[in-house]
Amino acid sequence: MGKVDILLGLQWGDEGKGKVVDVLTPNYDVIARFQGGPNAGHSLEFNNIKHVLHTIPSGVFHPGCINIIGNGVVIDPIILAKEIHSLEKLGVNLKLSLKISKKAHLILPSHRELDAASEAAKGNSKIGSTLKGIGPTYMDKTGRNGLRVGDILLPNFRERYNFLKNKHKEILRLYNYESNIEQHETEWFEGIELMREYQIIDSEYEINEYINQAKRILAEGAQGSLLDIDFGSYPFVTSSNTICAGACTGLGIAPHRIGEVYGIFKAYCTRVGSGPFPTELDNQIGEKIRQVGHEFGATTGRPRRCGWLDLVALKYAIMLNGVTQLIMTKPDVLGTFEIIKVAVAYRVNGYETSRLPYDINTPIEPVYKEFKGWMRDISGFKSVDDLPEELIRYIEFIEQETGVPVKIISVGPNREDTIVRD
Ligand code: GDP
Ligand code: IMO
Ligand code: MG
Repeated sequence: MGKVDILLGLQWGDEGKGKVVDVLTPNYDVIARFQGGPNAGHSLEFNNIKHVLHTIPSGVFHPGCINIIGNGVVIDPIILAKEIHSLEKLGVNLKLSLKISKKAHLILPSHRELDAASEAAKGNSKIGSTLKGIGPTYMDKTGRNGLRVGDILLPNFRERYNFLKNKHKEILRLYNYESNIEQHETEWFEGIELMREYQIIDSEYEINEYINQAKRILAEGAQGSLLDIDFGSYPFVTSSNTICAGACTGLGIAPHRIGEVYGIFKAYCTRVGSGPFPTELDNQIGEKIRQVGHEFGATTGRPRRCGWLDLVALKYAIMLNGVTQLIMTKPDVLGTFEIIKVAVAYRVNGYETSRLPYDINTPIEPVYKEFKGWMRDISGFKSVDDLPEELIRYIEFIEQETGVPVKIISVGPNREDTIVRD
């Protein structure tokens, strides 16, 4: 009987999940996405070419690997079709390797408009959504109104589509939103037609058969634990469970089937969109991290907010996920900082605490521990023995604080820039 390993982001997303899943794929037979949708942008680089995936799992560049879009994912057929076309141009055979769950929900053009209308209505308190229609689609899922991938095989699919679209139009009218849905419909239905050519499956059965056959499965998370609908800084979150438990509901696997939980984090922090960010550096240091780390959104191009590593938040994420191995990315970005800071506690209302406060408006003052920077370009380093002592000390402190080993250190965007530590 096999186990399902899970790789997920421990911060606010963009930790480098795509890169590391691609690196780990040779150890797996199956890679499966379990939540989120095209709000995700997972970058991977090899042969000096950068690829950004939004819906398709990051195992797709390894021939022979099966890539599953699980039931917990929401799919925009327009974006999926673009991804399929660009991958097939590169010679990736998705007809063999891509499998889509019948139970995954569809993002309609009207969901995207509802996302935009909702954000506009919120004004200054907007979430900073990627505007991909994620929130409205999950609302229709839990509201029991949604359209699922399996529905495209039914004879009355058009009717169902029109019924839901018309309902959305009513809501858009209440928002006074000028709707332009019809402009995107042709492309959307072309995307639906294209999806019919691929394997549409009962993914929960298939995944459990793979488990019984002792196939090696890796579940790939999207977003990060601090954007989780239940445990993130609500309402400045995404609309799915991004934590480990989301892999059970998003794929149909029982909790005792979970093996390793790889938690990935940057050597510092970033966040895109609104919401609290206690260690944010709204200054030249933050700007330097942004420039050196190319911290601009892979999906929206927006500049990412940057700040120091936050151990209060990291420990919270480790607790929620039961992380068994840590993966650190992008320490190479910090190679020119003389002092590197890490938040080890928060000061809230004059008291020190190691917990995230419930009220997101609570002013938080991070309590920092300072580390001497390594002041060296470590990008592309290949061996743990080459790593500067100061970085090792930084890593050992994180291990000591979290009680979890840092097993992989990524020192560049390329596949090869990856160091495995025993
Ligand atoms: P994801 O959403 O978690 O897959 O992460 P993104 O792809 O959105 O953002 C991570 C960015 O950092 C991408 O541009 C990657 O190419 C890049 N990246 C990943 N790992 C490293 C690393 O170790 N060092 C550097 N310098 N860049 C990295
Ligand atoms: P990956 O998988 C970073 C953020 C948005 C916004 C909030 C809600 O690449 O790490 P949504 O579109 O989900 O309604 O937006 O969540 N967000 C992400 N930030 N990485 C992501 O994905 C994100 N997906 C959503 O910026 O603040
Ligand atoms: Mg990303």
